[in-house]
Amino acid sequence: MSMSEQSVQWYELGPVSSIPLRGSRRVVINDQTIGLFRTATDKVFAIDDQCPHKKGPLSEGIVHDNCVTCPLHNWVISLEDGKAQGADEGCVNTYPVKIEGEQLRIGVALCNKQELATVGD
Ligand code: FES
Repeated sequence: MSMSEQSVQWYELGPVSSIPLRGSRRVVINDQTIGLFRTATDKVFAIDDQCPHKKGPLSEGIVHDNCVTCPLHNWVISLEDGKAQGADEGCVNTYPVKIEGEQLRIGVALCNKQELATVGD
C-alpha cells in the first residue's frame, strides 16, 4: 500500500441525490470546505470550494460539461483535475469520489494532527 492510500480517510456523505443535478453541495471536512458537484450526465466530483483566482465559492458557480464557472469573475475550473481552463492559471485540490449504490463517499487525505475527523454542512 502506498503512502497516499494509507493517509486517505473515506467520508460517507449521503445519497447522490442530495446534490442537485447540474448543481452542487458544500461540505466541511476537517475545517476544509469542499464542493460536491453533479454534472448533467450524472457524474459526481469533489474539489476545494475555493477558486484559485480570488477564493470565490465554486459551489455557487454554474456547472457545465465537467467544469464549473466561478461566480465571481467567471474563471472556468475543471472538475476532473481542478485546473483553471483557457489562459487562466491555477489549480485546486480534487478528491476521489466513490458511489456505491446511491451512497456517496469521498476520500480526504489526512495529516497526523487531523486524525480526529469531523463532518459538517
Ligand atoms: S475568484 Fe473565481 S474567478 Fe475570480
